[in-house]
Amino acid sequence: MKALTTLRVNGTPHTVAVDQHWTLLEVLRYKIGLTGSKQGCDKGDCASCTVLVDGEPTLSCCTLAVTSEGKEIVTIEGLADQEGPTRLQRAFDASGAMQCGFCQPGIILSASKLLQDNPDPTRLEISKALSAHLCRCTGYTKIIDAVCVAAREPISEKRQMSAGSAGHKVLGAKIRRYGTPKMASGNTKFTDDLVFPGLLVGKLLRSPHAHARILSINTDAALAIEGVHAVLIGDELPITFGIIPWTPDETALAVGKVRHVGEAVAAVAAVDEETADAALKAIVVKYEVLTPILSPQEALAPDAPLIHETDWKGRERKDNNCKTVELSFGDVDQALADAAVTISGEWHYSGNTHAAIEPHCAIGDYTDTDDLVVYSSTQVAHYLHRELAKVLSIDEARIRVIQPPVGGAFGGKSEPFDLEFAVAALSRKCRRPVKILYTREEVFYAHRGRHPADFNFTLTTNAEGLITAVDNDILLDGGAYHSFGLITTYYAGQLLCGPLDFGSYRYRSRRAYTNKPACGPKRGHGSVQPRFPLETALDEAAEQLGMDPIEIRRKNALPATNATTINGQKINTNGVLQCLEKVETASDWVARYANMPKGRGLGVATSMYISGTAYPIYPNKMPQSSVMVRADRSGRINIHAGVNEIGQGSDTVLAIILSEETGVPLEQISVFTGDSDLTPVDLGAYSSRVTLMAGTAAKEAGEKLGTFMRDALSKKLDIEASQLDYDEKGWFDTKAPEERHSTTSIIQLVEADIGAVVVTGGYWTEEGLGGGYRGGSIGASPAYSATAHVAEVSVDMETGVVKVHKMWAAHDCGYAINPIAVQGQIEGSVYMGVSEALHEELIYDEKGLNVDPSLLGYRIHTSMDVPEIEAMIVETHDPAGPYGAKEAGEGPLHAAIPAIANAIWHATGVRMRTMPFTPDRVLAAIREGQKDA
Ligand code: FES
Repeated sequence: MKALTTLRVNGTPHTVAVDQHWTLLEVLRYKIGLTGSKQGCDKGDCASCTVLVDGEPTLSCCTLAVTSEGKEIVTIEGLADQEGPTRLQRAFDASGAMQCGFCQPGIILSASKLLQDNPDPTRLEISKALSAHLCRCTGYTKIIDAVCVAAREPISEKRQMSAGSAGHKVLGAKIRRYGTPKMASGNTKFTDDLVFPGLLVGKLLRSPHAHARILSINTDAALAIEGVHAVLIGDELPITFGIIPWTPDETALAVGKVRHVGEAVAAVAAVDEETADAALKAIVVKYEVLTPILSPQEALAPDAPLIHETDWKGRERKDNNCKTVELSFGDVDQALADAAVTISGEWHYSGNTHAAIEPHCAIGDYTDTDDLVVYSSTQVAHYLHRELAKVLSIDEARIRVIQPPVGGAFGGKSEPFDLEFAVAALSRKCRRPVKILYTREEVFYAHRGRHPADFNFTLTTNAEGLITAVDNDILLDGGAYHSFGLITTYYAGQLLCGPLDFGSYRYRSRRAYTNKPACGPKRGHGSVQPRFPLETALDEAAEQLGMDPIEIRRKNALPATNATTINGQKINTNGVLQCLEKVETASDWVARYANMPKGRGLGVATSMYISGTAYPIYPNKMPQSSVMVRADRSGRINIHAGVNEIGQGSDTVLAIILSEETGVPLEQISVFTGDSDLTPVDLGAYSSRVTLMAGTAAKEAGEKLGTFMRDALSKKLDIEASQLDYDEKGWFDTKAPEERHSTTSIIQLVEADIGAVVVTGGYWTEEGLGGGYRGGSIGASPAYSATAHVAEVSVDMETGVVKVHKMWAAHDCGYAINPIAVQGQIEGSVYMGVSEALHEELIYDEKGLNVDPSLLGYRIHTSMDVPEIEAMIVETHDPAGPYGAKEAGEGPLHAAIPAIANAIWHATGVRMRTMPFTPDRVLAAIREGQKDA
């Protein structure tokens, strides 16, 4: 029953017909059109929906709209004054506080209230004031910096806020991100913010069973409901898909069987959410419930029931094993026999998830001309484009995929999902645009999180502490489908062999199907888990040898340049020694390590990661990245790149490179990404590939355009092109003051002759990367980063509670094109690693139900939990990357978990081999240790 309600929002009255149960957030977003307030969780756990009600920060998703009548409501759109964005909004922009930006409107509103009450807050006071807000990207460091800046520091208004590094104009300078002023004012349009005439609400019916046969689905009653426009079931879209072309074992909606709780079995499109919910309730599905298999050990038992009876070609399957990789390098058995020190045992890495604050969202728009447009919060638009064409049997040329800004992804939006196929097919049925927005619960059901992994692991050293053998048996819990599993099975073994050297190495990696949501890539895909046994076993070896933990890592470091790992990966530059030196100095390790009181400890660990992979997911001869650059007489340059910005700052990197190469100021460069009609193909944002691969393509295009402009000007002025160079203002200096030409005037001059200038650039992976054996190219990369962390913890010996006080993280990113963004990536990675180490874990009951699929139950760190993070950049100038750059967005996560485990040992004397290091686990280990003593 609707009643007219007048809400006063940002000083303007809005009279709206409001149902009694509608939340303030729903009315603000979908009735009044103020989409700056975000929906991240539906139940007050993330605080992205925060608005000010009578001046107080208020969760609008937990507030009924009717109760807000007569109150003053301020949303992010109303914060700016007549002079434009407030000082606080500008400080967030200038401080690098915004990555994906999804959480920021709510945070900025809470911070504005804090500054009103307390104009000069301490960092702790800021942390407390923002502790209700979840940010998954930043680690909160730069958010707190931004509030400090707003309170008491000058704010640069320039896009380029400092000088470039030696010899460069914009490279290495402190640069504001593209799009951040819009984010700070709430005007960035994420997928759920888009508005279409006649938009229908789509919803998915999900299985309550982990393992069941579908006997029948009756949709008649649902279709008969007024306002229901279409219903879809799996049999209508039977073509299988999968991100890996050799393992397409999924259908858009379940066909014949469900394999995990929450698997989608039907979809509806209706005029509004209530009608769509009623339609879901009216669908009758008859199931034959089967016994769920919930662990890889059960799945691989000889008599285990099959989760998939056939493979995608219809051939009978014999077991639940998805993939086994067995590789051996050097004489492992001899090394094991000769070892001076042997550390051996079982380790367990618990499964966890991405928890991006923006839930997945997609809109399908099947147009009058039989063309399909899909808007999606994907991080790999190209693969979605291909799979939509396949599953819906539509020519690729008739499909356009548009990726609006994405509110965090971390690997969790890397492959096509049920909702993207469903909105496309529903829209085709009813010829109206259809949107599906996952609830937070659905995000947990559909997630492709980090694989739980069991390790039977042995590390040996000689008497000098050199690693002589690593023998690694890996069992991955893959969940219901393959997803990226083939790659994960390799990565878990292949990516362990740097930045430290092994005398010999053997691994067996297996992945099993289970009746849980499929696992996939999460930040540091596949290689975070094995780093835990390696770095903790090495620490234990150091203990037995009486060696300093940093020293043993120094001893085992691969060479600084032109190294080859035991499994044949070529590492051009390896900055691990510089990283170790930086964290050793910054943490005052030498003075403090031997003198920590009981209950307090320091721990160290290292890691490495790829900068893109030689393996392009599907075989093709096209460049992995390509860009098109266009200049016209307006003086503006547009770069069109198929790569996907997901909050990591890649649009800004492309613009910086173009500015450096052409001399055109950053303000005159526009970046277009993530639109299959407007941009050339790129394989997307995963495996930390964007800076190296798309950056190289942008550099090539920029060089071409720069040369073109230089030649045009030299011809016009009749002087040698080599005499022309940019001055500090981005003008070509001809040495004669009256003949200085801006790039704008050059473009106008050139355009008079030939019209707009268009150039392209591409990146092809070098042939022959990796070892020359089957699978040797998986995990092979043009360049590898290196990292070292030191963690300082205290452990309450009575409760087992671990507090991480500080993380020192040094990361070799090759060259920091935009140092503030690199620091942000290091801080965000470390934060995610610390949160994984201490809390994050997906727990399923005996029926395969996730026991608490919410952001309250799945505990990610708040601003009050996160330790101080000191992020340090190491530059080794890798020849494979543009200007020497390599990755920075994933590698700095891995080392956090073992560094904390090693610090717990230092504090307590107990070795943790199961994570996360929750109080119950740590206390049990302490008590076990006390028994042994
Ligand atoms: Fe906070 Fe992305 S910037 S969630």
